[in-house]
Amino acid sequence: MADSPLDPAELQRAGLRLDVDGAVATISLARPERRNALTFSTWHTLARIGETLPGTVRVVVVRGDGPSFSAGIDLRLFSPEGVPGEDTSGPRDEAFIAGLQAGYLWLRRPDIVSIAAVRGHAIGGGFQLALACDLRVVADDVKFAMKEPALGIVPDLTGTKPLVDIVGVPRALELCLTTRTVFAEEAARLGLAELVVPAAELDSAVADLVAAILQVRPETAAATKRLIRQAPHNTLEEQAAAERREQVPLLGGPAAAPAAS
Ligand code: ACO
Repeated sequence: MADSPLDPAELQRAGLRLDVDGAVATISLARPERRNALTFSTWHTLARIGETLPGTVRVVVVRGDGPSFSAGIDLRLFSPEGVPGEDTSGPRDEAFIAGLQAGYLWLRRPDIVSIAAVRGHAIGGGFQLALACDLRVVADDVKFAMKEPALGIVPDLTGTKPLVDIVGVPRALELCLTTRTVFAEEAARLGLAELVVPAAELDSAVADLVAAILQVRPETAAATKRLIRQAPHNTLEEQAAAERREQVPLLGGPAAAPAAS
């Protein structure tokens, strides 16, 4: 295992570990002594992982070392001292934020299924990382909180869209503006977790889920993810057409014709 296409020094600087084992890549947030606080390097390196992921990978598991998934942004980045090795001098413009968002956006790609394995705190950027994944398996000690507004900023790491998609506009607004904590029972009820398990069983529950997903043919899994992801934006007729387009190649028929314009 521990096969990684990236420079180990780059991963370490970013507080990350990457293990690629055949069809499964596991990304570990690996700064438990700081509760896996996230730095600019973390987000840039996550983007690099997405860019360099071997084509054999079909499932990506994102997990955290230690008691917390992630305490969100490393708060020292907001202080004059900053974080050693992190460049905090550049402009905080939209291009800069887009570079950080790239660390999370690739987790929605149709050729992979991404799973967040969350124990303990998932705060701010940590909560948004869990939301960036397709599925969330959580330990019963999970604590989700969108803390950004308490710091005077908005959640800008691609989290507002999945949050609204999952819990709806009023609940998303309430969670963001109160910055309150969502515990396991409510997380399951709101759909923020597909599965809640005792903390000691988190790894085995994720392994079972991964094994089940890998039973499905890669092209079928990718087609299914494309189909399900577009469903909320389509009319019934558009979605029925999308089902037909995805199905024909799987049945061994002619390649899908371009959508009629
Ligand atoms: N940034 C930098 N260091 C952090 C962070 C963080 N976000 N979170 C924890 N740490 C450090 C602590 O300073 C502490 O360091 P020390 O041992 O040198 O004192 C160490 O990690 C352990 O933290 P504790 O607070 O002792 O751990 P505990 O398990 O009791 O609490 C918790 C964990 C709840 C996550 C708490 O650390 C916390 O509230 N952290 C800040 C969360 C936050 O507001 N994040 C920003 C969200 S907004 C965004 O992400 C954009």
